[in-house]
Amino acid sequence: MGSSNSQLHVVALSGAGMSAESGLKTFRGADGLWENHRVQDVATPEAWERDPELVLRFYNERRAQLYRVEPNAGHRALAELERTHRVSIVTQNIDNLHERAGSTSVLHLHGELDLARSTADPDLLYPLEGRPIELGDRCERGSQLRPHVVWFGEDVPELQRAAALVETADVLIVVGTSLQVYPAANLAYMAPPGARKFVVDLEIPDSAGLQGFDCREAAAGMALPKLVGELAEGEM
Ligand code: APR
Repeated sequence: MGSSNSQLHVVALSGAGMSAESGLKTFRGADGLWENHRVQDVATPEAWERDPELVLRFYNERRAQLYRVEPNAGHRALAELERTHRVSIVTQNIDNLHERAGSTSVLHLHGELDLARSTADPDLLYPLEGRPIELGDRCERGSQLRPHVVWFGEDVPELQRAAALVETADVLIVVGTSLQVYPAANLAYMAPPGARKFVVDLEIPDSAGLQGFDCREAAAGMALPKLVGELAEGEM
């Protein structure tokens, strides 16, 4: 069972809906706010310039919350798929729930909540393990630390690496993303012509680009275990 699939490359492109059932809020919910904040007040370089204390507090709260939640059945299903397939996760999420579920190849397009980054040298990263970043916390070169997250208006340094993964996908699973934020959303449309493509979302995004996708309109925690089962059994 499944061993004949071992060379097939599955790429999962995940967004905030992936972690919703773990208790983390999505970005574009009904109120348009992210945890009671407008994104431009907490997730832009301008916000950091204007009020770094607010930005740090916001991400410190998100990081603390991370340690109160657990991976859900959807994360676990993608981790289990590694038994039968080569699996690459490309996530827009800054949480670490894919890793904690056991996925071994996780590329974070928008950074990682649990890392601090030097404001002098983007290559200087520091594990936080849940600790807060405070004003005055400095890197070894003496500059203020900031969250290792990609804010609106900033470059997405991992984009090329992510594109290279999607371009070699035999199976692409787009899960829990509204596909409204670019350049990340472009990745959904970059699988090779022969790839099998799936969308898993509570509300399938209304995008002409999703023609040719097998759409599963359901919660990730329900739909992914089923889809992974089908892939592992070689039914598709
Ligand atoms: N299962 C599957 N999908 C779900 C679930 C669920 N349990 N709950 C919500 N969804 C879907 C929603 O229907 C929506 O399509 O998840 C999607 C979440 O969309 P967004 O909130 O826009 O999140 P995302 O696409 O990840 O946002 C992209 O925007 O704010 C920035 O950098 C941030 O990475 C983020 C980026």
